[in-house]
Amino acid sequence: MSTPKKINVGIIGCGNISQAYFNGAKTFEVLNVVSCADLNAAAAEAKAVENGCKAESVEELLANPEVDLVINLTIPAVHAEVSMMALNAGKHVHCEKPLAVHLEDAKAVLDLAAEKNLLVGCAPDTFMGAGFQTCRKLVDDGWLGRVVGGTAFMMGRGPESWHPNPAFFYEIGGGPMFDMGPYYITALVHLLGPVKRVSAVTTRAFETRIATCEAQFGKELPVHVPTHNSGTLEFHSGAVITVTVSFDVYKHQHKPIELYGTEGSLQCPDPNTFGGPVAVWTPTGGEWREQAFSHRYAKNFRSIGAADMAMAILSGGAHKHRASGELAYHALEVMHAFEKSSESGQHIVIESKPPQPAPLPLGLIEGRLG
Ligand SMILES: NC(=O)c1ccc[n+]([C@@H]2O[C@H](COP(=O)([O-])OP(=O)(O)OC[C@H]3O[C@@H](n4cnc5c(N)ncnc54)[C@H](O)[C@@H]3O)[C@@H](O)[C@H]2O)c1
Repeated sequence: MSTPKKINVGIIGCGNISQAYFNGAKTFEVLNVVSCADLNAAAAEAKAVENGCKAESVEELLANPEVDLVINLTIPAVHAEVSMMALNAGKHVHCEKPLAVHLEDAKAVLDLAAEKNLLVGCAPDTFMGAGFQTCRKLVDDGWLGRVVGGTAFMMGRGPESWHPNPAFFYEIGGGPMFDMGPYYITALVHLLGPVKRVSAVTTRAFETRIATCEAQFGKELPVHVPTHNSGTLEFHSGAVITVTVSFDVYKHQHKPIELYGTEGSLQCPDPNTFGGPVAVWTPTGGEWREQAFSHRYAKNFRSIGAADMAMAILSGGAHKHRASGELAYHALEVMHAFEKSSESGQHIVIESKPPQPAPLPLGLIEGRLG
């Protein structure tokens, strides 16, 4: 058997989430992490030692001819800037969510990539996990019939009780919609195809919140964003999905995502995970029945989207990567539409219309995507 070709990766941003990417990248044979960088040189050095790669400055990593693909794990406020730097250095980019805070910046990233004939990918890639691939198979195989409606609920009381530095969650580009919305909207687009229009009302329970985490106990956190977003998404498929994304809710009992079709109903797992549970109700079954996974990758396989993009790079465009920049742009446009609709009192028509990402094939062996 011939040795599989690999894409050399440089990781920029060695914070909280980075180890999940280093771990995931070791699973996929197509990825080879050669270098990492961070504004905080000590953070990059520590990750390099832990993971057996080189630590470099951001400038060195971008100038490193070995690096083909940059995985951008910086904070949302600089996602677009760092992705543009990587593209200008001739590297493909896979970025953490969101693609950018502002739509214009996200568009500039996609335009620059097209101009330079480079690929852009973006988190979340959790929809490529076992849970949502199983949901997709059930939908595609017709277990629900035609999907008419559904619900998506991400509701909690906010991160200030556990996150050591929670202020950014309440600044522009933060809030529950930009932090958690990408998981829910991307998962829905994966299942149903793109969104046609959005109507929504947004509000906030508090103008100021109080941190109760140990590191910043008692610190006042001014709230600059809506913290309760409630709306309706109409999909090009005709499905109508009710979505609430909130940091203003102590407790609830809704499932993360449910779909209601002409032949049955589907309960989907938390889209911020790769696993389950997945359950189906049909009139012949008469009860919720938990489903075995049709696909693999049920654990935390962050970087599966980057691996899929690496395959696209190696295929010279024949393979289409699923967690694409176009999909992330669409999710961002939908997220912005919530506040736009609330302020204007109008439905917001969504202009972008990316293709529905292809389902993963059945029968994969671990470490491969095709
Ligand atoms: N932490 C999580 O559980 C989690 C989960 C999913 C997604 N994410 C996403 O991953 C991204 C990173 O999150 P995190 O929790 O790891 O944040 P973090 O604050 O722990 O780490 C971000 C790192 O990026 C570095 N950085 C910031 N600006 C930089 C720049 N211009 N150049 C180089 N390095 C820079 C920081 O020094 C820091 O080490 C965010 O977009 C977040 O939404 C985080």
